[in-house]
Amino acid sequence: MRFAGKNVLVTGAASGIGRATAILFAREGARVTIGDINAAGLAETAAMIGDAARPVSYDAEDHASCQALVETAATDGLDVVCNVAGMLKWGPTESFAVGDFERLLAINTTSVFVICQAALPHLVEAKGNIVNIGSTSGLRGMIYTAGYCASKHAVVGMTTALAAEYAARGVRVNAVCPGHVLTPMTQQAPPEGDLDWDMVMRGMPKLVDGSCAPEDIAEAVAFLASDQARKATGTVLVVDGGQLVS
Ligand SMILES: NC(=O)c1ccc[n+]([C@@H]2O[C@H](COP(=O)([O-])OP(=O)(O)OC[C@H]3O[C@@H](n4cnc5c(N)ncnc54)[C@H](O)[C@@H]3O)[C@@H](O)[C@H]2O)c1
Repeated sequence: MRFAGKNVLVTGAASGIGRATAILFAREGARVTIGDINAAGLAETAAMIGDAARPVSYDAEDHASCQALVETAATDGLDVVCNVAGMLKWGPTESFAVGDFERLLAINTTSVFVICQAALPHLVEAKGNIVNIGSTSGLRGMIYTAGYCASKHAVVGMTTALAAEYAARGVRVNAVCPGHVLTPMTQQAPPEGDLDWDMVMRGMPKLVDGSCAPEDIAEAVAFLASDQARKATGTVLVVDGGQLVS
């Protein structure tokens, strides 16, 4: 019960990593505000959690919606913010729509900034912390993912910058960088076109059965958010089944 009495916000909680993270925090005693654009998925997550869940529909592309989500989550104080919501779109660069590049940045990066900005006054008061979900694509370039990689490198940079800015005010800011996780995001059909699959597969996990379950990532998030990690800030924890080892 590492989070008994704590108020936690988890975005992207309608499926995948966000759902697993919200369930874990609730199981360990937290009251969890769960945010997502997918209201049906959010309702399913809320039903799995029970009374400890407060579902809130929001759109990460809409700044006012992100700010309203934080204010609802902070009704009784706010101790932990987990920025999990995100999108993946990939494909050969020359045929990649600029609008999709901008959308990746809006959902994966700008919304994280807006949510952190709105949450920080509450977290300063509570001496709380933030855990952002980056990606191995936030640490290394992967083929056909210029937009996604840009958006996740920015999340890693934002995490360490905020850690530096807020350390003296008692707020920790960390990130988890997952590798391949079995969620709806990674079950999309690949983009059309002549793809270099040898290069795509270089980025796959090297551990036997190396792809992660959402719960593997939730455990890392909960660790960083807990008092067990009270001396960790600006930490970027890679959980990738060995994708980045050479
Ligand atoms: N699955 C992987 O292999 C993997 C690897 C590295 C990082 N990640 C990151 O983990 C996070 C969670 O991804 P996942 O794998 O659980 O995928 P997922 O598709 O299961 O979950 C993403 C969630 O974000 C929500 N979302 C998307 N656009 C939104 C918007 N505009 N407003 C509000 N919510 C929105 C979706 O509805 C969905 O519930 C993402 O940030 C993703 O980039 C995933």
